[in-house]
Amino acid sequence: MSTLTLAKSLTAADLKNNIQDIQDNVVAPILMRYGRHIFFKFTDGQKARAWLRNMFDRVNARQEEHGTRFSINIGFTYEGLRALGLSPRSLDSFPEAFRAGMQARAGEVGDVGPHAPEHWEAGLGGPDIHAMAWVRTDSDEGRDVASQVIRDEMEATGGIEIRFVQDTKALAHENGIGSEGEHFGFADPISQPPIDGADVPWYPGDGMQESDGHWRPLKPGEFVLGYEDELGPDGTQAPEPFELRVNGTYMVFRKLYQDVAVFRRYLATAAKSLYGSDDQYHQDLVAAKMMGRWRSGCPLDLSPDRDDLAIAADPERRNNFTYADDEQGLRCPLGAHLRRTNPRATPLKRATAVRRRRLLRRGVEYGPHLQDGVMEDDGVDRGLINLFIQADIERQFEFVQREWMNGGVFIGLDQNEQDPINGIGGEGSQMSVPGAKRPFLFDLPTFVTVKAGEYLFVPGLNALKGIIEQKF
Ligand code: HEM
Repeated sequence: MSTLTLAKSLTAADLKNNIQDIQDNVVAPILMRYGRHIFFKFTDGQKARAWLRNMFDRVNARQEEHGTRFSINIGFTYEGLRALGLSPRSLDSFPEAFRAGMQARAGEVGDVGPHAPEHWEAGLGGPDIHAMAWVRTDSDEGRDVASQVIRDEMEATGGIEIRFVQDTKALAHENGIGSEGEHFGFADPISQPPIDGADVPWYPGDGMQESDGHWRPLKPGEFVLGYEDELGPDGTQAPEPFELRVNGTYMVFRKLYQDVAVFRRYLATAAKSLYGSDDQYHQDLVAAKMMGRWRSGCPLDLSPDRDDLAIAADPERRNNFTYADDEQGLRCPLGAHLRRTNPRATPLKRATAVRRRRLLRRGVEYGPHLQDGVMEDDGVDRGLINLFIQADIERQFEFVQREWMNGGVFIGLDQNEQDPINGIGGEGSQMSVPGAKRPFLFDLPTFVTVKAGEYLFVPGLNALKGIIEQKF
């Protein structure tokens, strides 16, 4: 195990030394296409700790067995930490949103109607889900080999059951350029906040822009617990003790079903209504107005009227913009998915520091691509497994979802203005598209439905050992 630099609030320099203690997929994505997410219930805390003890050396280890390469990592729900016997002092020190769990927070983030927890799969977000292991590998067989390792250890100790399994397969690998793109056809991911002290390549536009125009990475405490954050020394200060939180983080798991056929059909309707034409150019333009990028990844802020593949392919340019010259949203609508989820220099009606609302996105697609040109649903389950990483679920994920995704007041629009891709949708929803002939869309269909979700604490390796040994 690594030797940790321990103090009450660590710096970016400390992060460099502590990287080995942070679980994989947090600071840097694991670039293996195939994933499996296994949700567990602990039926006996002592036996579950024995299972974790046996699994410990496999966490963060890139392993090869039966000719396949795979990695295994693990996070816990609040109920899971309780079942493992964490002390009341430590349990009580966790922030409220995490203790409540995603089901109980449904009202906070707009998981209502078709998105409500009563429709979710396998009781996720509720008290019977205690942990999630995520496997990353190169093939279908890799998933099975890793699952077998996990099951063998489960059989050896008992005290643990599998409640739900969700496979993923990245359609849009390595920035999506030249691949199929995510299910609606957009390159993803492109924009990720870089972390000061992490040795991960990043480009202009990924971080925060200073007044002199240069971009800088974000302080590590925005994403990893125990470190200085954008306001100064570690402002999170939870959970207690420091050794439990340091190098840990929170992962928000969201299973989001995407209705690709409805999305494709809607583009024609919306193009006609906004521009009076549903030719391919106008359908592509509508898709770009909703997303904030053309499907290639080229941002509207840099090229509002036509896709530009040279920009899309250039990592130095494709994220290098701020919306500073587009206060009205004539280039990129204020309510586009991209502009809402990271408004950059957009003036906000409700003052908030954008740098405190950033999310690391480790999401991956599930289900097969709906063949190009198919306009009818084939009944196959497909969508996105969002995995958001942050230091504070309430300040980051929940805020973005509630304030920026599900309403428009923060950018001076109507409260009925929701994220056109991922909003609640349905009757009463709307989107304004400045510059279009008839600049409003009304009653947008629900393209994305929440199917399940979970809030997980992802401890550093030393903390994981401490949890197993009941040190906290
Ligand atoms: C199925 C649902 C979703 C789809 C299809 C989707 C798709 C995309 C795409 C294609 C991009 C542009 C690529 C990029 O700039 O990296 C993007 C960016 C982003 N999305 Fe989503 N997304 C979904 C849900 C969400 C949710 C639920 C959140 C947060 C609560 C979110 C937060 C973000 C953020 C923060 C960015 C980067 C914005 C920037 O830095 O400019 N997305 N999304």
